[in-house]
Amino acid sequence: MLATTVAGIAMDCCIYNASGPKSGHVSDLTNVAKSRSGAVLSKSATLKSQTGNPLPRLKKIEMSGSAGHASINSEGLPNAGIEYYISDKVVSAVADLNKPYIVSISGLKLQNNLEMLSKIAQARLNGSAIVAVELNLACPNIPGKPTIAYDFAQMSDILDQVTAHKELLESGLRLGIKLAPYFDMTYYERAAKIINAHADRISFVVAINTIGNALVVDGNAEMANIAPKGGFGGLGGGLVKQVALANVRQLSLRLDPSIDIIGVGGVSTGMDAFELILCGAKAVQVATCHWLEGPKCFDRIATELEAIMSKKGYKSIEDFRGKLKDYDRKLAKKAIAGSEEAPPSSAFPSASLAWSLVAVLMVFVAVLLQREFSR
Ligand code: DHB
Repeated sequence: MLATTVAGIAMDCCIYNASGPKSGHVSDLTNVAKSRSGAVLSKSATLKSQTGNPLPRLKKIEMSGSAGHASINSEGLPNAGIEYYISDKVVSAVADLNKPYIVSISGLKLQNNLEMLSKIAQARLNGSAIVAVELNLACPNIPGKPTIAYDFAQMSDILDQVTAHKELLESGLRLGIKLAPYFDMTYYERAAKIINAHADRISFVVAINTIGNALVVDGNAEMANIAPKGGFGGLGGGLVKQVALANVRQLSLRLDPSIDIIGVGGVSTGMDAFELILCGAKAVQVATCHWLEGPKCFDRIATELEAIMSKKGYKSIEDFRGKLKDYDRKLAKKAIAGSEEAPPSSAFPSASLAWSLVAVLMVFVAVLLQREFSR
């Protein structure tokens, strides 16, 4: 029911892990592979291993209600280096569990990305089971470096060079890019134009990375709550879901239809995944929720998504993918009537409670009036 393809790669389940949390070590990756996750994605690799920014650099942001939890991070790309993520030990640990393995790379400069692509292509030409590369253009946490996806001249140059990479082409590896969140229509337009100009080589786009350079303040201690970069870090989880939905929707309306879109940002329930697919995503990644709940989140979210689809009579994600409708008064009424839950909350928890309060108040006034007049 949840089967999908991303860049022609078959996945049994359209939900898998995002690069970042619990994806840096072979044990993390095999744990993901043992779950219902449809694929396994590595932590963003650099050419050499590095320890990253000072601790604490990743914190949960407590949230109330149904929005799930959020997070802030400024890890500074701690990772074991590209050789590790393409080593036989790591690749076969995942491949033995029959999951497609995708390597994320985030070079500190263009030359490093090209070098890493050569290494991955070589591994693949030598029989490695790596299926795709996710080129991260959106890490906001390297002191002194801009987020590439906001610098269109740089992004265009990188895509020109990466898509002209000969070994990568020969290797048959699929190439995708991870984008930063955009907030302005002109940015969507410009990003889509650059990506579409490389549609023959870019097979998928992942949207969104964290909202960069947010600041969480600990008011009691009167300080920033993470150590690196004066406390500025990438915001993820429940606080970014609507931005992710908007980015997936905008990109799906603008990108060449041959480019698959993968939605990421604030997914912690089956309904979150459903909404991203409705906006056009062919698959959905999970980051903050995976960090907090562990790989069992993939089983839970998948089961929840299946239940939603069954209730709506959908047999495949293609039955509703990208079919978001414009607001319609009649549809809104029908959805409320058809839902088992209470209608959306107003100032009062429910209409019946509001009426009960009015009734109690009226009895109280009646008693007061009776006392007044019986004196
Ligand atoms: C890091 C954060 C990111 O958002 C990303 O895409 C890559 C790396 C980090 O701080 O390690």
